[in-house]
Amino acid sequence: MTTVGFIGSGHIGSTIARLAIEAGHQVVLSNSRGPETLADTAAELGPRASAATSVEAAAAGDIVVVTVPVKAFPNLPAVPLAGKTVIDTCNYGPERDGHIPELDSESLTSSELLLGYIPDAMVVKAFNNIFFKHLLSLARPAAGAADRSYLPIAGDSAPAKAAVTEFIESIGYSVVDAGPLADSWRQATGTPVWGTPYGPFSNEKGQPVGEDAIRAALATATR
Ligand SMILES: NC(=O)c1ccc[n+]([C@@H]2O[C@H](COP(=O)([O-])OP(=O)(O)OC[C@H]3O[C@@H](n4cnc5c(N)ncnc54)[C@H](OP(=O)(O)O)[C@@H]3O)[C@@H](O)[C@H]2O)c1
Repeated sequence: MTTVGFIGSGHIGSTIARLAIEAGHQVVLSNSRGPETLADTAAELGPRASAATSVEAAAAGDIVVVTVPVKAFPNLPAVPLAGKTVIDTCNYGPERDGHIPELDSESLTSSELLLGYIPDAMVVKAFNNIFFKHLLSLARPAAGAADRSYLPIAGDSAPAKAAVTEFIESIGYSVVDAGPLADSWRQATGTPVWGTPYGPFSNEKGQPVGEDAIRAALATATR
C-alpha cells in the first residue's frame, strides 16, 4: 500500500484519488481553500482517505500528485516535496494561467517549469493527456485485462519512473516511457496523444488505447 498525497483535488486529482482508494492505497487530499472544504470528498472516499493542508499532504505522500493550474506552481510547498516522487498532471493554458514567457517560447516544458519551483523533487509527467471521465471509466485493474489502456510518462529519474509505473499499474493502466521531462512537450495540450486517442469528450466512457497507438501518437508530435 502506498500513501498518495494530492496537491489539488479537483476533477483529475479526485479521480486519481478514487482509483487509488479502489486499488487499496491511502490518500491525503489538499486544495487551496483548506481541509474543511474537502471533508465531504474524503468521507465519500472512505476511511483510507483524509483531508489536510498542502504542506501536510506533501509530507505524507510516498508519491505526491501535483494537479493544479500551472499558475499555482509558485505557491507549491517546495520543502516537504524535497526528495519525493511527484506526479505532474498539469497542462498549460494561457487563457486560464496567463502568459508564461518560458512556456510560450517553448524554452521549457511545463514540467521543467514545475521542477524549477520544487527543485529537489523527482517529477514525472503523467495523466495530463487523459480527460478525467475517461480516466475513471477506462481503468482496468484486473491483471492481464485485454483492453487495458496505456498512458505516457516522462521524467528524468529512473527510480521515480519505476515508482510511478507501479502506482499506475495498480490503478488499472499500463505506461509508455516517453523519455525525459525535456521531451514531455510530446504529450502536452494539443499533441496527437493528448485526449484524442481515448475518444471524444462527449462520450464519457472513452475507448481503450493500446501501447502501439500511444507510441505512434508520441512519435508524430511536432512543434
Ligand atoms: N480536467 C481534466 O480532465 C484534466 C485532465 C488532465 C490534466 N488536467 C490538468 O490537471 C490540472 C488540474 O486539473 P483539474 O481539471 O483537476 O482542475 P480543477 O478541477 O480546477 O482543480 C484544481 C485543483 O487545484 C487546487 N489548487 C489550486 N491552487 C492551489 C494551490 N496553490 N495549492 C493547492 N491546491 C491548489 C484547487 O483547489 P481550490 O478549489 O481550493 O482552489 C483544486 O482542488 C490542470 O493543470 C489541468 O490542466 C486536467
